[in-house]
Amino acid sequence: MQSDVTPKIVPTPDSEKQNLKDRITGAVTTQKRPTVTVLSSLLSIEDELGYIPQEAIPIVAEHNNSTINEVWGVASFYPNFRFDPPSKNVVEVCWGPSCHLVGASEVIKAVLDELGLSGEGDTADKVVSFKFNTCLGACPQAPVMSVNHRMYGKITSKDAKLRVSKLIESAKRGR
Ligand code: FES
Repeated sequence: MQSDVTPKIVPTPDSEKQNLKDRITGAVTTQKRPTVTVLSSLLSIEDELGYIPQEAIPIVAEHNNSTINEVWGVASFYPNFRFDPPSKNVVEVCWGPSCHLVGASEVIKAVLDELGLSGEGDTADKVVSFKFNTCLGACPQAPVMSVNHRMYGKITSKDAKLRVSKLIESAKRGR
């Protein structure tokens, strides 16, 4: 049985296209990595925008003297790349060994319950993107979660749930 592995692309409104292209070009042409490749270019764009827009593919191909097919091949090979804009907030919970040993599973369950998700992904209202992380780099503070790149260590499932519910509440209030 064949499966469709083509990434889902969300079209970008015309008014934002030039700004988006400028940011993509900036990310590709100002890479600080010592070796510039298709992968490093995609990583720079992901760092800049939080996702790989459709418009990025030909720019990366041209910059790396590559083809569109080759760029898609690299982009779709790595499951960590996303192809649509992330939600307003990004919540990550570490499930690396140090965090796992001291209760990450309960923290993950509490966060997923609060978000109404069963795993990585976006809430239907695009308020929160949830991601697992294999190490947030703060193992002595395990278990660790991050909310919009701000880290919280020695987190309990109750605290984690509270932090997520605050995000949801503030989104409802329009902040
Ligand atoms: S394993 Fe969780 S922060 Fe390193």
